[in-house]
Amino acid sequence: QTRQDSPLYPVLENAAAYYRQQLRRHAQRKRAVEYLQQRGLSGQIAKLYDLGFASPGWNNLMGHLATDNSEEKLLIEAGLVVENPDSGKRYDRFRDRIIFPIRDSRGRVIGFGGRVLGDDKPKYLNSPETPVFHKGRELYGLYEARKQNRQLDDILVVEGYMDVIALAQHGVTNAVATLGTATSEEHLKRLFRIVNSVVFCFDGDNAGRQAAWRALQSCLPVLEDGRHVRFMFLPDGQDPDSLIRSEGHDAFRARMVQQAQPLTEYLFRHLAEEAPPDSLEGKAHLATLALPLIEQIPGSLLRRLLRQSLESRTGMDLDSLPTSEPASPPSI
Ligand code: CTP
Ligand code: MN
Ligand code: MN
Ligand code: MN
Ligand code: MN
Repeated sequence: QTRQDSPLYPVLENAAAYYRQQLRRHAQRKRAVEYLQQRGLSGQIAKLYDLGFASPGWNNLMGHLATDNSEEKLLIEAGLVVENPDSGKRYDRFRDRIIFPIRDSRGRVIGFGGRVLGDDKPKYLNSPETPVFHKGRELYGLYEARKQNRQLDDILVVEGYMDVIALAQHGVTNAVATLGTATSEEHLKRLFRIVNSVVFCFDGDNAGRQAAWRALQSCLPVLEDGRHVRFMFLPDGQDPDSLIRSEGHDAFRARMVQQAQPLTEYLFRHLAEEAPPDSLEGKAHLATLALPLIEQIPGSLLRRLLRQSLESRTGMDLDSLPTSEPASPPSI
């Protein structure tokens, strides 16, 4: 069969229905519901993102969805059941966790994330790569964002499930998250098919700042003229979830408008930290770092403007740089 009609889709859909139902009916549902409430989420938003609960125990889902070996094998292929390679024992991957179904842009469930209710490790578990789930391609919350907005003008890219959902809870309904992976060129191509403007808003920590610079690098090859990318840097220790919960919708929006830096500004600011152009050496270093980045941009207007900006920062005429072969030595 093709990816289009994979037998994994109905299995994943049934699993989502099971987790959803457990959040409403399981004897221990109260713990899960209280956890979600304590994180500031309403029942309405839990429903919109179709949150669920994987109850404690080793084969709840398996017992519910599989009656024979072939059905268990399908659950393994879907990433829902794990088989111990030594003992051959099979058990549910997601146990005692809040469940976040991950949907493709058509709304089909393709995988899950699961969060512990407390401080246990690992905090999040995700579905493994399967025939229908590719982390480097999918964006959590994109389906839900489109569902909530007839027209999307820009999309906010954040790190985590809870960031997407907390933002939506506070009326910022255009956020998506990469699934614990770096923002790939493929993610960006997908986003720019939908909007012309993308805003990155990663956590205010070292990992978040590193992710932002990597995201900038992935953006360059898809920066056609007319596409806008901005970066919003959060105060230390904050993420979009914690920030919107403490500041509220309006302050978060205002921050986005006032503080989100255009990609080009961020690019020069970041490079100037590594190569301060306060000496000829520094200027040469800055040009060495900036040029290979600028040259990746397909948008010719933006590329030219960036070259001009680099010229004024370095006082160098870039067009006079030798491009191919060095000039032949003067004849005597
Ligand atoms: N992540 C993951 N596995 C982990 C930790 C993180 O897959 N062990 C992914 C998750 O998608 C998570 C994102 O990276 O949402 C961001 O991680 P982090 O900032 O640590 O988590 P938060 O989303 O802020 O988690 P929470 O607010 O629920 O504590
Ligand atoms: Mn983080
Ligand atoms: Mn525009
Ligand atoms: Mn968080
Ligand atoms: Mn975070």
